[in-house]
Amino acid sequence: MSDWTSGYVAELEYAQGVYREMAPSLMRLNLLMQRADASALSGQPPSTPLRYAELGCGHGLTATMIAASHPGAEIHATDFNPAHVAGARKLAAQANLKNIQFYEHSFAEFLAADLPMFDVVALHGVYSWISEENRALIRDFLYAKLKPGGLCYISYNVLPGWAPAMPMRKLMIELGEGNKAQPMAARINGALDFIGQMQKANAGYFKANPQAATRLEGMAKHSRNYLAHEYMNRDWNLFYHCDVARELAGAKLTFAASAHAGDHVDIVNLTVDQQQLLASVTDPAVRETVRDFMVNQQFRRDIFAKGLLRLSGQEQVQALANTRFALTVPRSSLALKAGFPVGEVNLQADVYEPVADALAEKPKSIAELLAAEPLKAMGYQKILQALLILTSSGQAAPALDDKAAREAKPHCDRLNAVLDRAGAHLRRHRLSGQPGHRLGRAGGPLQPAHAAGAQTGPEGSGGFRLAYPHRAEPAHPEGWQDAGNARGKPGRTEGPRGRLHRQDPAAAGLSRHRLRKLFSFISLRRS
Ligand SMILES: C[S@@+](CC[C@H](N)C(=O)[O-])C[C@H]1O[C@@H](n2cnc3c(N)ncnc32)[C@H](O)[C@@H]1O
Repeated sequence: MSDWTSGYVAELEYAQGVYREMAPSLMRLNLLMQRADASALSGQPPSTPLRYAELGCGHGLTATMIAASHPGAEIHATDFNPAHVAGARKLAAQANLKNIQFYEHSFAEFLAADLPMFDVVALHGVYSWISEENRALIRDFLYAKLKPGGLCYISYNVLPGWAPAMPMRKLMIELGEGNKAQPMAARINGALDFIGQMQKANAGYFKANPQAATRLEGMAKHSRNYLAHEYMNRDWNLFYHCDVARELAGAKLTFAASAHAGDHVDIVNLTVDQQQLLASVTDPAVRETVRDFMVNQQFRRDIFAKGLLRLSGQEQVQALANTRFALTVPRSSLALKAGFPVGEVNLQADVYEPVADALAEKPKSIAELLAAEPLKAMGYQKILQALLILTSSGQAAPALDDKAAREAKPHCDRLNAVLDRAGAHLRRHRLSGQPGHRLGRAGGPLQPAHAAGAQTGPEGSGGFRLAYPHRAEPAHPEGWQDAGNARGKPGRTEGPRGRLHRQDPAAAGLSRHRLRKLFSFISLRRS
C-alpha cells in the first residue's frame, strides 16, 4: 500500500474549527483597510459566480459555512484525508448545499484535476506543516488556477515568535518516534509527560525560556487531535514573512493585507517609537518582517493578490462607509477591554457603547451609523476604528447586505438545523444573522441563535454575517487557545497574533493628523 500522507499526520483527524478570516466579508474589510482592490470577492454574477477554492480544508466546516452564506458562489475544497472529506461531504449533503464540492485530492491531484479558474484560493493551517515539494505544488496551483486580480488567503507559523518553543517541538517529535508502536495520542501524552518531568527537574531550557512552561501548560489542555497536527507532522517550517513573500512572488502574488482586522490599527500593536522605526523601513516585505519582530509574531494570516490593484483614497473611504457591520455578541455582554500586542486596551464607553447600541438594533454601515444621532459627532474615522477593534476582538463583524442576506437565509437555516442535531461540538458553529447572539470565544460564523433564544436568519436584522469568533478549536496550528502559537486567537502572552502592517496614512487615505485623532479615544493600559 502506498503512503499517501507525505509525512502528514493522518492517524488522528484534525480538530473541527471555523476560521472567520477566510470569509469573503472579512477579507474584503481587511483589503479595503490597505486600499487593496477586493472586487475579486464579488465574482462577476450572474455570468460568473465567485469561485473559491480551499486547499487542505480539514473537516470543511469553514468552506461549508461560506457555501451556505454565499449561495451564488461555487466552492471547491480538497483534503487528502478521506475521513475529513467523508465528514465534510456528509455535512454539506445533509444541509442540501449544492454549491460546494469536496475532493479527496492531494495537492498534486488537485493541480492536475479539471477545475475552473478561481477568484480566491484559501489555505489555513497548511503551509508550515507540509514539505517543500507540497509547498511548491501549492504555488503551482496559485500560478495556474488563480485568476488575475484573484486573492490568496494563507496562514503560517512565523519567527521570531515561535523561536523559544522550537526546541519543544523537536523533543515532541523525537520522544514520539521512540514510542512509534503506540497510538498517536499515547505518543503525545508520553512526550508531554516526559517534558513535564524535565521542567520539574529544572532543565536549563525552561529556566532560560520562561514562556516554555506556559506553552507546555497550554499544550496539556489541547485536544490530542490538535496537538498531533501542530507538533507531530514530519514537516514543520517556521518562516519569516519576507521569505514567504519571496516564495509566493514566484506564483505572481503580491502581499496585499493582513487578514486580521486588529492589525490595521497601529496604536494597539505598536508603540510610537516602534511606529517611527518601522516607518523608516522602505521595503514592504522587510517592513512586515520587522513588524513581526516588534510584536514577536508567531502566526500570520495574510492576503496576497495576483495583480494587486490599489484603490484611490476616495474609493477606499466610500467602500468602507458602505460596509455593514453586525454585533456578534449580545449587547449586554459587550466587553470594554481587549488584549492586543501593546497590552490590554480599555475601550472608551462613550464611543463603544453608542456604536454597540446602534448595531444591536440591526447591522448598519458606517454611513448609516454616521447618520444616527448620537454617533454623528464622532466622525467616520473614530467609528471605523471602533468597528475594527470590535471586529478584532470578536464582538462585531462585517455583514452581508440585505439582498445577499435574504438569499443566504434558507441555506444557513438548513445548515444550522444540521449543526444543531450534530451536538454541542458543532452547534456552537451555527450561523445566524441576528445580532447579539453569544458565541463566546468559541463559535462559528454567524451567531448561535439558540444561545439567545432568538430566531435564526438575517431577516429583521437584514444582516447576514460571517461572524467567526476568534476561534472555536485551536485552529490547527495551535494558536488560538494557547498562549503560544497562533492559528487563531490574538496573542496576548507570547505574541501578538496579528502581524502588523504599518498603516501608511497615505495608503490608507488618511492623514497622519487624522490618524492621531482616530486613536485618541482608546486608552491603553500596558500589561
Ligand atoms: C491542520 S489541518 C487544517 C485544516 C483546515 N484548513 C483548518 O484549518 O481547520 C491541515 C490539513 O491539510 C491536509 N493536508 C496535508 N497535506 C496535504 C496534501 N498533500 N494534500 C491535501 N491535503 C493535505 C491535512 O489532511 C489536514 O486536514
